[in-house]
Amino acid sequence: MLKKIVLTGACGALGTVLREPLSRMAETLLSTDIAAAPETLLPNETFVQADLAERDQIEPLMEGAEMVVHFGSYVDEGPFETLLGPNFIGAYNIYESAYHAGVRRVIFSSSVHSVGMYRANEGIDLDARHRPDTFYGLAKCFTEDMARMYWEKRGLETVSLRIFSCTPEPGNARALSTWLSYPDLVRLVSRSIDSPTVGYTEIFGISNNDRAQVSNAKASFLGYRPKDNAEDYADKVLGKGLKPDPQDPQHMCLGGPFAIVPLGESGVAMIRKMSEAAGD
Ligand SMILES: NC(=O)c1ccc[n+]([C@@H]2O[C@H](COP(=O)([O-])OP(=O)(O)OC[C@H]3O[C@@H](n4cnc5c(N)ncnc54)[C@H](O)[C@@H]3O)[C@@H](O)[C@H]2O)c1
Repeated sequence: MLKKIVLTGACGALGTVLREPLSRMAETLLSTDIAAAPETLLPNETFVQADLAERDQIEPLMEGAEMVVHFGSYVDEGPFETLLGPNFIGAYNIYESAYHAGVRRVIFSSSVHSVGMYRANEGIDLDARHRPDTFYGLAKCFTEDMARMYWEKRGLETVSLRIFSCTPEPGNARALSTWLSYPDLVRLVSRSIDSPTVGYTEIFGISNNDRAQVSNAKASFLGYRPKDNAEDYADKVLGKGLKPDPQDPQHMCLGGPFAIVPLGESGVAMIRKMSEAAGD
């Protein structure tokens, strides 16, 4: 049992999934977000509202923490200036504060968008170089590189989880390859926390999907063994009659729609527009 875990992005979709399992892994869970506190807190959970971009708000949270589960960020493509505070400076504030407080390990929610411009059928593994599809992906690359540097220069460990599509169910044809179930997210984060040593490790955050397009073989020592498989939803998803254009770069690249969204423009808005046009 750890003494204290800090969870950023605690009010977000994935933070909400993680609060309860994390609270069972530590004596104290300190949850934080720029948003207001959740309505009810767990018995050993405290909540502090804080902006990642403000070092003086982040630093005090780290006192006595052994691990930081860093899931807070602006979660969309947007102008560089929009991402600069939460995603770039925010990540630096986490690493710098964690290091000075003697934190042992950070679990960082990276993204497929750090390698989003690779062709989906290239079959990349964890040796592939960064190839971001957006400023959002670029911030993930920046944080991954910073995390490796903090390990190599300062001995602060990190597991970077390159999450693909973490949703309750796979919602479209792409997600048959990219889905990460909520229970598998919990398995992934739990392994990242309870593995005795990780140094600096990257791992793709996907379930045990038959149609997975990337290989986690080089991180198998982490012991992450996903149990869910998007294939269980294939009939439902493909039954919607989706016929993706095979020439369309968004179906050819790992980053999906983010691979074609113009730099600085919202990918989430584009996805919404496309799914409305498809009658979803
Ligand atoms: N959901 C996915 O499929 C997916 C895929 C890849 C990566 N990720 C990553 O996982 C993490 C969590 O994603 P999510 O789906 O829960 O997103 P989310 O938008 O639901 O949650 C992000 C949280 O970060 C908080 N936040 C934003 N700016 C902040 C700031 N300046 N200071 C403090 N908190 C701030 C938001 O208030 C929000 O609660 C993110 O880092 C995201 O990039 C998610």
